[in-house]
Amino acid sequence: GGGSNAATGAGAGGKGPIVMGFAQVGAESGWRTANTKSVQESAKAAGITLKFSDAQQKQENQIKAIRSYIQQKVDVIAFSPVVETGWDTVLLEAKRANIPVILTDRAVDSEDKTLYKTFLGSDFVAEGKKAGEWLVKDSQGKSEVNVVELQGTTGAAPAIDRKEGFAEAVKAAPQIKVIASQTGDFTRSGGKQVMEAFLKSNPKIDVVYAHNDDMGLGAIEAIEAAGKVPGKDIKIITVDAVHDGVQALADGKINYIVECSPLLGDQLMDLAKKVVAGQSVPERVVTQETTFTQEQAKAALPQRKY
Ligand code: AHR
Repeated sequence: GGGSNAATGAGAGGKGPIVMGFAQVGAESGWRTANTKSVQESAKAAGITLKFSDAQQKQENQIKAIRSYIQQKVDVIAFSPVVETGWDTVLLEAKRANIPVILTDRAVDSEDKTLYKTFLGSDFVAEGKKAGEWLVKDSQGKSEVNVVELQGTTGAAPAIDRKEGFAEAVKAAPQIKVIASQTGDFTRSGGKQVMEAFLKSNPKIDVVYAHNDDMGLGAIEAIEAAGKVPGKDIKIITVDAVHDGVQALADGKINYIVECSPLLGDQLMDLAKKVVAGQSVPERVVTQETTFTQEQAKAALPQRKY
């Protein structure tokens, strides 16, 4: 970003620390809290000055934050878009101001790939597939498996992609049916509320597929309140593997977790330095992730950092 560097004397010119404006989604989940911490700690370690804003899961707040970073002439903007669409105008404003943008965690659905330099984050479709593949194996020999799905925030990349990946994988087993699917907004309270409604209107639920741990943890509360045993009467599959999720898995209340790593900070700061220095970066950086069974959760729990 030439223009901004000239104006601030920072960044590529090497005169001062790089200034990054980071527009976070919110604080909706344990994952998000860990992600924020990672970004803040990594910025500090990398000597990058971080301007941080929390959009409380509202796109208009994120757009406002990005506009204010443009006005402040930061060297680089990083953000995790709450939803996929509706970013072209503000990203064009950043481009015209010569401020490079890095997408982190979530993607935008934009035709114009020149509006951002790179996208660092997980493959959410692959995560959904892994969840579905586990269920296909677990459903062998069963004649009917009724699934309720707790979706993430409507319009968010992880909600769209985790739904799609799961649906694709479970096609392999026609006895698996998704009988209800609704958003719980990636929050514990959202997951609990939607699960309460699902339990009232569906007499036979065999499996909950929650797009994140927090909604799964909320569903556990609803299932227990209804006098059923989570992990036994109703199996639960989630995504993330934050500490509380892995704990519930080790305790037998969740049956399987697909990992989504929130620890993106170090990679983000590396990419930011390169982008500000005008070096080329890969257009996509995919996070390495694993999966956890109940046994693996017991073994992994003591080392989980978040
Ligand atoms: O974008 C990543 C998702 O957002 C996480 O899986 C979820 O917990 C968070 O809210």
